[in-house]
Amino acid sequence: MPYPVNAYPHLFSPFRLGPLELKNRVVMAPMSSSLGGTDGRVTADQIAFYQERARGGFGLIIVEFTSVDPDTGRTEAHQLSLESDRNIEGHVRLVEALHQSGTKAFIQLQHGGRFAPATFLKDGITRGPSRVYSRRDPSKLVVEAMDQALIQRLIAAFGASARRAASAGYDGIELHGAHGYLLSQFLSPISNHRDDEWGGDAKRRMAFPLAVIRAVRAEIGDLPFCYRISADEFVKGGLTIDDNEEICRHLVAAGIDILHASTGRGPEAFDKVMEPMSAPEGWRLPYARRLREATGVPVIGVGQIRTPELAERAIADEDCDLVALGRPSLTDPYWPTKAETGRPDLIRPCTTCNFCIAQENLHRVCCAENPRTGRELDAPIPADLGIGRRAVVVGAGPGGMTTALMLAEAGFETHLFETRLGLGGGIIASGTPPGKEMLLRYRDYLERQVLASRIVAHVGEPADADTILAMAPDLAVIAAGTKRRLHAIEGLRPVDISA
Ligand SMILES: Cc1cc2nc3c(=O)[nH]c(=O)nc-3n(C[C@H](O)[C@H](O)[C@H](O)COP(=O)(O)O)c2cc1C
Ligand code: SF4
Repeated sequence: MPYPVNAYPHLFSPFRLGPLELKNRVVMAPMSSSLGGTDGRVTADQIAFYQERARGGFGLIIVEFTSVDPDTGRTEAHQLSLESDRNIEGHVRLVEALHQSGTKAFIQLQHGGRFAPATFLKDGITRGPSRVYSRRDPSKLVVEAMDQALIQRLIAAFGASARRAASAGYDGIELHGAHGYLLSQFLSPISNHRDDEWGGDAKRRMAFPLAVIRAVRAEIGDLPFCYRISADEFVKGGLTIDDNEEICRHLVAAGIDILHASTGRGPEAFDKVMEPMSAPEGWRLPYARRLREATGVPVIGVGQIRTPELAERAIADEDCDLVALGRPSLTDPYWPTKAETGRPDLIRPCTTCNFCIAQENLHRVCCAENPRTGRELDAPIPADLGIGRRAVVVGAGPGGMTTALMLAEAGFETHLFETRLGLGGGIIASGTPPGKEMLLRYRDYLERQVLASRIVAHVGEPADADTILAMAPDLAVIAAGTKRRLHAIEGLRPVDISA
């Protein structure tokens, strides 16, 4: 075993917050799964998705953004909602499923405001703190300003949804005050141009979030209460970390127990909400630290934290009290257990490739490396399917290696052929330019798995039809290369660099 057990003592120490005790400091970040019903209900697919992560050892799971008022704030077609008692029952089952593994559960409450697409809304009108006109046609109003009655209704809706969540058994509530949704729309001078009790200066821009906090606190008693904030919006004219140090002191004074330090704002600074793979690991931790020092309350750090080493250091150095993993929990639901049991080498590494948030994939949670993500209810491949059978896989890129590993796990005598002298295929070239190095971690992970398995790796051996037929396989898979995609950039032409 290459790593000692208990190599991460801070990460795997318990954490107490009021009545709440977490078994460790590893949190699954809230991530919209798009697995909810079109009526906002929890589905069996969704329970299985979260249950798998609870079994994987997360101390706390923050269930994805859940609408408090879908009529005016639904942000995605399959978004959960808690606007009515009708939806409580599904959450009871979800929370019970997580508790069975000793994992605690928070729920994130949200309203999309000006980011709620009109087609999802009851009267087809998007509303936010202030009017927005179309950029293309400045005479066209695309977002209407909320009136007093709606603002009051939404404050009450946050409170009522929190009450329903508490009655469903959640161990805490998180407000989605980050990334440019309604709460941050009121807070930020970019989106709040009002001149009334809800806007006009920094103090009045805080009035809506503070009213929501008080309404929620009144409904949930001493249940832990978290506020997710973009510690810096990274948009010209938007809120900076200096502003948010002060703002967070007010949020805490109004009833917040713990902060969750995200960053960025869609769409202008979406690359700071979900960074690309070139972003330095742990780059957001200094922001978490500043909010922690400014307020004195515990803080959850998040974003581009990929290894248990970094997570351990973040807590040991007191950058934050808990570490949230978003995308890594999609790649490997068993990240915490593997780290805790001294096998970080078995963690399938998230490369921050962002396939999971590509527009065409947003209809269902997924991961480029893990075909089971979002499909946890699909029957697994039987472990004895290949007993007494032989499989040949041609091509040891990520697809070929993964296929070979699955076949070997299913009992096939598996032969993997690769023309080059090493394993990895196209991912080696993809991971070579500066900023793409994370891809090579995935190659290294797959290589470790292949070498530790019973796969016979024929490295440096090309395989043609005769080679394959001579092995008399029951199954042959050709995984020899993807098609090159040439970008439509003027003057760009392929160059042969092999000569
Ligand atoms: C598919 C997906 C859905 C997300 N949905 C939410 C959400 O519902 N609420 C939220 O606050 N953040 C959401 N996020 C952002 C994550 O919580 C997290 O802050 C971000 O991915 C950065 O952390 P990571 O580098 O560990 O992934 C989502 C991220 C992904 C990848
Ligand atoms: S698709 Fe890429 S970024 Fe998303 S979870 Fe998987 S490896 Fe990470």
